[in-house]
Amino acid sequence: MRGRYLVILLVVLAVVFAGCSQQEEKTAPTPTPTPEKTPTPVPTPDIEKIKQKAVEDAVHELMVSALNLHYDNPNTPEVEGVNVNPEFGCSGCHFSKEAVPRMEEWGRSAHGGHVLEVKEEDVTKAVTEEDAPAWVHYDFKQPNRQPCQKCHTSTGFRNFVSDPENYNPENNTFLLTGQQKEFLYCWACHKVEDGSFELRNPGRFARVAEYSEPADRISAVPDLGESNLCMVCHSGRSSGAAIKSAEEIKGKHFGAFNSHYLAAGGIIFRTLPYEFEGRDYVSSNPHASIEGLCTACHMSNADHTFEAVEVKNGAVVDIKAYDTLCKKCHGDDKNALISTINERKSQYESALKTIEKLLAEKGIYYDGERYPYFYGTPNAEEHTFANAFKDWPSKDILGAAYNLNLLAREPGAFVHNPEYVKQIIYDTIDFLDDGVLNKSAEKSVPEDVKAFIQGAR
Ligand code: HEC
Ligand code: HEC
Ligand code: HEC
Ligand code: HEC
Ligand code: HEC
Ligand code: HEC
Repeated sequence: MRGRYLVILLVVLAVVFAGCSQQEEKTAPTPTPTPEKTPTPVPTPDIEKIKQKAVEDAVHELMVSALNLHYDNPNTPEVEGVNVNPEFGCSGCHFSKEAVPRMEEWGRSAHGGHVLEVKEEDVTKAVTEEDAPAWVHYDFKQPNRQPCQKCHTSTGFRNFVSDPENYNPENNTFLLTGQQKEFLYCWACHKVEDGSFELRNPGRFARVAEYSEPADRISAVPDLGESNLCMVCHSGRSSGAAIKSAEEIKGKHFGAFNSHYLAAGGIIFRTLPYEFEGRDYVSSNPHASIEGLCTACHMSNADHTFEAVEVKNGAVVDIKAYDTLCKKCHGDDKNALISTINERKSQYESALKTIEKLLAEKGIYYDGERYPYFYGTPNAEEHTFANAFKDWPSKDILGAAYNLNLLAREPGAFVHNPEYVKQIIYDTIDFLDDGVLNKSAEKSVPEDVKAFIQGAR
């Protein structure tokens, strides 16, 4: 933003200076031309007009881009631009000099609905459901979406983390009209109202968890400082432990058990996965004790794209926090860790395909695109809510399906808690392949899956 003002200022100054020097030339004494050599008249450029036009163009460009970026049409479900909350005004986002680089990063992030990337394609384009499903899919400010507002709207999140104990979504007041929607704005995480811009802090996860089991693990999550914020939204909504204690599973579609999505916190602290009886699981995670946790890996140098890695053409090409963090434990060879991540990522995806296949052999078909995700038929056209799979034969099979969806929607799990995730995947396959936990998982899986789970049990 500043850069752009600077450019405009420079353009204006350049034009003004150009004008001045031309004018000086005009007023300087010129020798009287000899009558015989009358020059053909050179049209003098109208400096004033050019100057005026340059300023108008620059201001016009700024206004057009600013108007398009800051206006959300209330008559469309898409989000044309950010909404300015009158409570905070412009300083809800433009709050300091330090904020300037963060705004561009944020505008490219998933939290900012990738709005700047969309606008770069065409200033009049809107952020759609495809760009940012979690902000655009529903009109989350509607009263029937109150349970969702603390994670899906800035207003709900701000109110929740400011006072989790007394939070009541009925009191969320949305200063929006029509179908306007909120992304995760700066003022949602930063205290803008008192001018401190400090981060809000909801306190430890145990205070704010959406689910109550497994109680011991939930209460063991330490105070994570700034990352307490991330835990609120990125720890899922229901756990494998809840499946175990459910009284009835038959007759219910998968939505009743769904962990919800991008639940990194629930993987790191092992609050979410469905664990099989009779199996021990590692309790230590080398990454859980990293000081700062999420922000150490995802916000190195306060990077507000929130991306831990740089991805090009589907492959990880850089690890942003390598020098500040990973190096301490993984050594000097950054490229080696980049290769490991790419290799594990493809093995991980392949392992999930294997689980999907094993469930299909039992007549339970996964369709990650269509809620509630599990159907009794492979035919995608029949994947309607009415055809949702409900006839769960056992908790272990439901648990296996639950693990599949949880992990498919947590693409960083193999980094977040490497050994534990391999055990969960091992056991899920081991159980599904012949209905018993007998360490058979490596027998019938493709080579890359075998390489991934080898040694887990
Ligand atoms: C919800 C957050 C938010 C609020 C509130 C907000 N802006 Fe912005 N603004 C942005 C972002 C993001 C950018 C893009 C920054 C960049 O490209 O580096 C931006 C850029 C701008 C620009 C530069 C034009 C451009 O397109 O790059 C101007 C001018 C501007 N804002 C004015 C305002 C004014 C005036 C207000 C109050 C009426 C306001 N903004 C409120 C987020 C916000
Ligand atoms: C208010 C809830 C909320 C908070 C707080 C929050 N996130 Fe998110 N985050 C989301 C949602 C929702 C998405 C997905 C947005 C979408 O794609 O529509 C997301 C996306 C992401 C992504 C990108 C995933 C992708 O697929 O590109 C990362 C990484 C991430 N968050 C990390 C963090 C970190 C780190 C923190 C803490 C500093 C944090 N988040 C805080 C809700 C939240
Ligand atoms: C504890 C925080 C939290 C709560 C509460 C929550 N969500 Fe989400 N939701 C998320 C996060 C994080 C994502 C980002 C996942 C993504 O985009 O992949 C998400 C994504 C979504 C998506 C996009 C899914 C997709 O296919 O990408 C939908 C739809 C959604 N949530 C619906 C709801 C509804 C409806 C409610 C209320 C009944 C709700 N959520 C409550 C955290 C939450
Ligand atoms: C999901 C929550 C979240 C959102 C949304 C968010 N921030 Fe931050 N911000 C953080 C966290 C966490 C830190 C601390 C990062 C660190 O430890 O390095 C931070 C740090 C900062 C800092 C201080 C670091 C520095 O750059 O010197 C500034 C300034 C800042 N944010 C500006 C913004 C602006 C501007 C926006 C909106 C465009 C924004 N933030 C949106 C979580 C958030
Ligand atoms: C040890 C470093 C580390 C820690 C700690 C960590 N992450 Fe990650 N996370 C990563 C890496 C690396 C990836 C990218 C994996 C990939 O794309 O191959 C990732 C991926 C993700 C993704 C999916 C991003 C995408 O683009 O699909 C989300 C969301 C996420 N992390 C959120 C979090 C949250 C929230 C926390 C804290 C509760 C956290 N992470 C802690 C390193 C970490
Ligand atoms: C506190 C020490 C520590 C830090 C910091 C750390 N790691 Fe690790 N990480 C480990 C240990 C220990 C293991 C397990 C042994 C191994 O695979 O090296 C591990 C395993 C991994 C794995 C799984 C390797 C595999 O073979 O499956 C990945 C991927 C990973 N770390 C990525 C990262 C990234 C990326 C960062 C920085 C953003 C990071 N780690 C920071 C200690 C650390």
